[in-house]
Amino acid sequence: MSHGNLQNETAIVTGGAYGFGEGIVNKFIREGANVIIMDIDSDNGIRVQSNQPTRSAVFVRGDVSNENDWKAVRDTTLKTYGRIDIVVNNAEISSLNVPEDMFDRLHSVNVKNIYHSARVIVPVMQQQGGGGVFVNIYSMGSLRPRPNFAWYAATKGAVSAATKCLAAELAKDNIRLNTVCPVAGETGMTPLILGNPDTHEARGSILSGIPLGRFATPADVANATAFLASDEASFVTRVELPVDGGRALN
Ligand SMILES: NC(=O)c1ccc[n+]([C@@H]2O[C@H](COP(=O)([O-])OP(=O)(O)OC[C@H]3O[C@@H](n4cnc5c(N)ncnc54)[C@H](O)[C@@H]3O)[C@@H](O)[C@H]2O)c1
Repeated sequence: MSHGNLQNETAIVTGGAYGFGEGIVNKFIREGANVIIMDIDSDNGIRVQSNQPTRSAVFVRGDVSNENDWKAVRDTTLKTYGRIDIVVNNAEISSLNVPEDMFDRLHSVNVKNIYHSARVIVPVMQQQGGGGVFVNIYSMGSLRPRPNFAWYAATKGAVSAATKCLAAELAKDNIRLNTVCPVAGETGMTPLILGNPDTHEARGSILSGIPLGRFATPADVANATAFLASDEASFVTRVELPVDGGRALN
């Protein structure tokens, strides 16, 4: 039996089917949480669920930009585990080529997920009593801007602002909100960051800006997220935690 830092907690992890989100699901379950994986990718969602101990993870197909999907995830979580303690808003999309319909889609996925999750899940946490935690995945790409990522970074700026405002607003209910800010990592987003096919030069150029000399891994992001979600961070709210190998220094 596990006795981790998230023992008996119930978490919703969006985008948990792949990349950083998959790492967060794995870590949370090792720390004793039950996890609902909300993702649009059914094949990988079922794969991640089936890698976990029985009943510790349930995949629910859902689009974070859709309010009804959030309500369905809320209802499944309460039916399966009886409560909701933690939401990790990790699922987001990026694009370099941003015609207006992609601009709208970026905002619809990357900003509306914070909006829907707050409107649908906060009332559950308030009714349960005892507080709750949101960890929203932000990006060093917003804190340390790079060319070609303006419209993605703009959505991340909105995530940051909303997280800080909600942290101030919901502290009275002991609901904490923080962001984790990863530097470039090797995930489904890699081709966007490094080009496709990626080159030694492109990798070298990004790595030269990261003093610790490597990309972020799903485990790096998951460890920081699990800390902020746990009671060890019970007096920590409204922070932006870089997981960036020192990129912020460069
Ligand atoms: N990879 C990086 O270099 C990097 C750097 C900084 C921040 N981030 C942030 O980390 C988070 C995770 O990114 P990643 O690199 O693991 O991405 P990824 O593309 O590898 O995985 C994203 C997951 O989200 C899911 N998803 C996409 N749209 C969805 C939607 N509308 N509803 C539900 N699920 C959806 C995908 O199916 C996938 O499983 C994002 O918030 C991203 O902005 C990534």
